[in-house]
Formats: sequence, C-alpha cells, structure tokens
Amino acid sequence: MKLLVTGGAGYVGSVVTRLLLDAGHQVVVLDNLVTGHERAVPQGATLVRAPVQEAATVLTPDAGFDGVVHFAGLIAAGESMVRPEVYWHENMTASLALLDAMRAAGVRRLVFSSSAAVYGDPVEVPIPETAATAPTSTYGATKLAFDYAIRSETVAHKLAAVSLRYFNVAGALIRPDVRIGERHDPETHLIPIALQVAAGKRARLQLFGDDYPTSDGTCVRDYIHVADLADAHLRALDAATPGDHRIYNLGSGSGFTNKQVVDVVREVTGHPVPVELAPRRPGDPAALVASSAKAEAELGWVRNRPTLRDMVEDAWTFMRDETVMREEPA
Ligand code: UFG
Repeated sequence: MKLLVTGGAGYVGSVVTRLLLDAGHQVVVLDNLVTGHERAVPQGATLVRAPVQEAATVLTPDAGFDGVVHFAGLIAAGESMVRPEVYWHENMTASLALLDAMRAAGVRRLVFSSSAAVYGDPVEVPIPETAATAPTSTYGATKLAFDYAIRSETVAHKLAAVSLRYFNVAGALIRPDVRIGERHDPETHLIPIALQVAAGKRARLQLFGDDYPTSDGTCVRDYIHVADLADAHLRALDAATPGDHRIYNLGSGSGFTNKQVVDVVREVTGHPVPVELAPRRPGDPAALVASSAKAEAELGWVRNRPTLRDMVEDAWTFMRDETVMREEPA
C-alpha cells in the first residue's frame, strides 16, 4: 500500500513507519517537525515537512494513496488542562482537515492513534472498549471528539477506520540496524523522566500525588512496548473495512503504580532515583488498565516484549546510545 503517516517523525509514528517499510509498504511522512525529529524518520520514507492542516497538498486525487495512519497531535494530558485551545486546534481542527482531504482524494482507509485518556476514571478495570467514555483531560476529550467525527465519516462516506486506544507506551525499537525511541522535549512521561534521573541528567523525579485510591497511593498505569503497539497498526490497516469504525484498546491487562515503575527503573539501571513528592497533576485518572482481549481475538495481536522490565531496558539502551551520540564531536 501507499500510505501517508502523519506525525511519522514522532515516537510511535517513526516506529510504525519503520515496520510499514519493512513490510514492503511505500510511506510518505507528513510532519511539521515541531515536536518530531527529522532524524527519527526512517530511511526509505519520504518526509514532507508541513502541518496536518495542509494534508490536501499531499493527499491529492492523483497521488495514489491507499490509506492514512494519523499520529500527529499533542499528547500531554497535563498541558492540555492549561492550554486547552491549542489542543482543540491541533488535535481536532487539524484532524478534520485531514478527513476532508482524504474524502476529496478518495482515500478511504484510516488508522487513528487514539488514547486510553478517552475513558477518564474507569468504572470497570480492566477497561473494555464498551466502557463509558468520560475523559478527565482536554487531551482525552479531543481524542474522543475525533472518534465521533470518524464514526460519522464511516457511516456517511464509507470510510474504513480503526481507532487504536493506547495505554502507556514505553520502550524503544532496538535491533542491530535500528534504534528508534522516545525524544520528547520537554519530556513529561514517567519512564523517560525516571531514566533521565538515573542517567544524572536531572536531580530528582517529582511524584505527582500519593493519595490516590490505589495500593500505594500513586497512580496505576498499563504499559505497552512501542514495538508491540506498532505491530497492531499494521494489523489494523489490514482489518479496516469500508463503512465500519472499529475501536481497540492496546495495553497489557496489568497495571503498575508509579512507585513500582520507579523501582523497576532503579533495578534496570542500577542507579538510585531520588523522588520528591509533589501535588497531583490535574487531569490524571487514578488507574488505567486495558482489556486488550478484542485486539487479540480480532487482530491476532500478540505482545512480544510484554514485561515492564523489557520496556525499561529498551528505553535505557536507547537513552544511553543517544547520550553517546550527542557527546561525540561533530
Ligand atoms: N508522573 C509523575 N512524575 C512525572 C511524570 C509523570 O509522577 O514527572 C506520573 C503522572 O502523574 C501519572 C503517571 O506518572 O500518574 C504516568 O504519567 P505519564 O505522563 O507518563 O503518562 P499519562 O498516563 O499521563 O499519559 C500517557 C500518554 C497519553 C495516554 C495515557 C493513557 O501520554 O497519551 O498515557 O494511559 F493517553
């Protein structure tokens, strides 16, 4: 297939792009490089440096695209609570422009990078796809709103669509020939921040709240390896059916408290990770754990790097490589 990958210079988008190329697909990456990195775009993909709002300039009727994998967007739940207007613009308005461009070009296959944040504080854990959606953050609300737009498009205009609701993505793609990992700037995620502390790049980790109704008072999250998550996108592209909007949760079925995560980082790195207690971060649900039974049954999805230790080890390998690369003289 010829595919447009929006946000293909970002963390998950670049790993998916690598796997798509390996599977023989042709990939054009659309990325404005505001949060993405040019060097993250895998060799073999063509980079078009432009915002998603300008998707129509690439997705022309003659360009021959078979589908779109849509990652581009803002991802920090905490930030979305203080800059909601930016999140609505980047995640919703831009995504609607993409849908318009796809319709005009006759491109009728879409895989959308959605989020567990659409569920908010769950009533049922592990969370199935049928659970009520009540996002606690603007970020989650923008992801849910675009799911509704996709749903309308499948019904009215026969789009074939799959939304993948990620839980907490971690790790890196580590192969002899390839290293692709997380390079957010500023970093807001727990595992890379804890690794930065272990690497001596930060003095301490701030732990946002220890009074949640969980076993040790810190939030519980379900971690999924980025390579396993990426594999689900290729399966979703194949499974997409005209007129149907499928939704799959992607996680592991088990959760770890933030304190447990920090303990695994200490074990893997062998470094102390000093922690300082800080107030709760607005928009954080207490516990998010996925049921991925539907993705396993319908997409044949299996996790090859399933443990939190696998993910932390790969993220640590990537971070150390990056540090060496940056310290090398030009
Ligand atoms: N946390 C800290 N200190 C930090 C960073 C994070 O205590 O310095 C805590 C957070 O408060 C939260 C947990 O670690 O309790 C995980 O936070 P992350 O920022 O790593 O991840 P989130 O759970 O907020 O969000 C991630 C993705 C979202 C996705 C969500 C689904 O960024 O896109 O997982 O679970 F929606």
